[in-house]
Amino acid sequence: MFAKRTQEVEPFLAMEVMERGMAMARAGTPIVQLGVGEPNFDAPPAAVQAAVDSLVSGETHYTDSRGLFVLREAIAQDCEKRRGVAVDPDRVVVTSGTSPAILLCLNLLVDPGDEVILATPHYPCYPNMIAACGGKTVLVPTGPDDGFVMDVTKVRAAITPRTRAIFLASPANPTGAVQPKEVVEELSSLGIPILSDEIYGGLTYDGAHVTSPMGLTDHCYLLDGFSKRYAMTGFRLGYLIAPEVAMRPLQSLMQSFFISTSQFVQQAGIAALAHGAAQVEHMRQQYAIRRRILVDGLRDMGLSIPIDPPGAFYALVDMRHFERDSLTLSFDILDKAHVATGPGRDFGEAAEGFIRFSFATSREDIEEGLRRLARALPEL
Ligand SMILES: Cc1ncc(COP(=O)(O)O)c(C=O)c1O
Repeated sequence: MFAKRTQEVEPFLAMEVMERGMAMARAGTPIVQLGVGEPNFDAPPAAVQAAVDSLVSGETHYTDSRGLFVLREAIAQDCEKRRGVAVDPDRVVVTSGTSPAILLCLNLLVDPGDEVILATPHYPCYPNMIAACGGKTVLVPTGPDDGFVMDVTKVRAAITPRTRAIFLASPANPTGAVQPKEVVEELSSLGIPILSDEIYGGLTYDGAHVTSPMGLTDHCYLLDGFSKRYAMTGFRLGYLIAPEVAMRPLQSLMQSFFISTSQFVQQAGIAALAHGAAQVEHMRQQYAIRRRILVDGLRDMGLSIPIDPPGAFYALVDMRHFERDSLTLSFDILDKAHVATGPGRDFGEAAEGFIRFSFATSREDIEEGLRRLARALPEL
């Protein structure tokens, strides 16, 4: 028998669509991949070289569980540069991706039966990780009509004595929404720990400005990583920045769960922070172009996209009029248009009937995907 909480962990449906797409590709039907949030860019060459040099020089051992001090220092400096908030490197823990950073913070804060508030549509792994800690996800809906902005009155109403944390994801997956400054300020004033997932920080368009709760509250747990901004998904490198009082228990959790993050990967992170800025800006500009091509192309087909996504690299498309559940629709799009997409259901009930399209893939693939979709639309 398996633990009950594993039954609450849902499969990631975009991966299921992708995997069927891969099987179709192996059988000779090439698929255009607009489903997953995987940048098609190469990692910064300086990061690759640093990882190679590190391995060749024999850096294949454990490090301090919190990460190499030089990297934690560089992350603290990056935080000050990007958010205007100075932090002590001793408040940083380096992890193998942002995902373990989220899991560490939830393990720190959540006892069985405790509650975590989450705006929905949401990144599917949050409730799964909350469930893995025995916690309960309390969803606060956001919708297309209000640009997926969080309603703080609804958040306040959702707070109970068992509330242990509020997730803030800005820019968000799957909507691309950026939460306005006032919303972040109000959330920060509630006196409840804010888990601020800033993995898409820096990936914004049309001058959208992201406000971080870092510096606005002493209860901010900042979650970030190199996967999206630096196109380093496969390196598995992320970090958290937490309040000073949380550091000792977080360190113990890190030691027990993961021991430390790979040394050569941490060296790659140091190099990315030191030399990657120009490439990060180049990628952002390319995403901005791809975003226009994708969003305009879908709208030209008569499809409705409630907001021009101000951040991240996803467009959440309202396809409720196709009157099919989003997983069936996503498979139909795969079968008829040979385009892989992300079914809205992945992101909660609030996104049912929506389909997520990613513009992290190449411009050519986006254009080809649009052509295929336009041809298949009458059949759908
Ligand atoms: C909102 C959000 N947070 C966290 C992650 C996990 O990223 P990582 O590769 O750093 O573990 C993702 C990945 O898609 C994401 O979309």
